[in-house]
Amino acid sequence: MNPDLFNELARNRRSVFPDQFEPGKSIDDNIIREIITNATWAPDHGRSEPWHFSVFTGEGLKKLAAFQSELYKQEAGENFKEATYSKLQRQPLKASHIISIGMKRTTTKNIPETEDIAAVACAVQNIYLSVTAYGLGGYWTTGGVTYIEKAKSFFDLGIHDKLLGFFYIGQVAIPSVGATRSPIEDKVKWVDY
Ligand SMILES: Cc1cc2nc3c(=O)[nH]c(=O)nc-3n(C[C@H](O)[C@H](O)[C@H](O)COP(=O)(O)O)c2cc1C
Repeated sequence: MNPDLFNELARNRRSVFPDQFEPGKSIDDNIIREIITNATWAPDHGRSEPWHFSVFTGEGLKKLAAFQSELYKQEAGENFKEATYSKLQRQPLKASHIISIGMKRTTTKNIPETEDIAAVACAVQNIYLSVTAYGLGGYWTTGGVTYIEKAKSFFDLGIHDKLLGFFYIGQVAIPSVGATRSPIEDKVKWVDY
């Protein structure tokens, strides 16, 4: 273990968006398996392992694109926008892999829902860090059909489960730059007296 290396990884991790991906360049499935394995080593209350992922790649990206654009069309009603529909069709095809981020609600123990969600968010941070460590790009999006109830079953989720979004992964063509964070003094109160 090298804390300097970890500090660099944690602080230089950046979201990389689909328009920054190298078009048409795919990533070895085995790397994605390693990344997801790291995700499953996240902390979880009560050993609940509440994460559930689906991985879309190759033809699967087209399936996801068709599913999300058609569901949007069905659900949008008078708010339907052609530009949104078309973006939902195009966006997934820019990625090498897309991982749907699901929370399977723990039912066997008295674990608050927030804690199941928190555990999945920890898993997603492991994805973010792993993607960075492999020199790849990616980001968590809660766009698309994330909050459409009817979308859940497509991702093997039931009514008590939650779809928390999607993690897009691609090879980086244009790196992200220019992140800032507030000084920790703004966010931390020390109590040592
Ligand atoms: C829960 C969650 C949801 C997010 N959803 C979106 C999203 O829908 N669209 C988007 O462009 N970025 C989304 N992001 C990524 C943020 O834009 C990004 O993390 C933020 O700009 C900070 O940049 P950094 O990740 O490079 O530090 C999301 C991040 C989190 C943690």
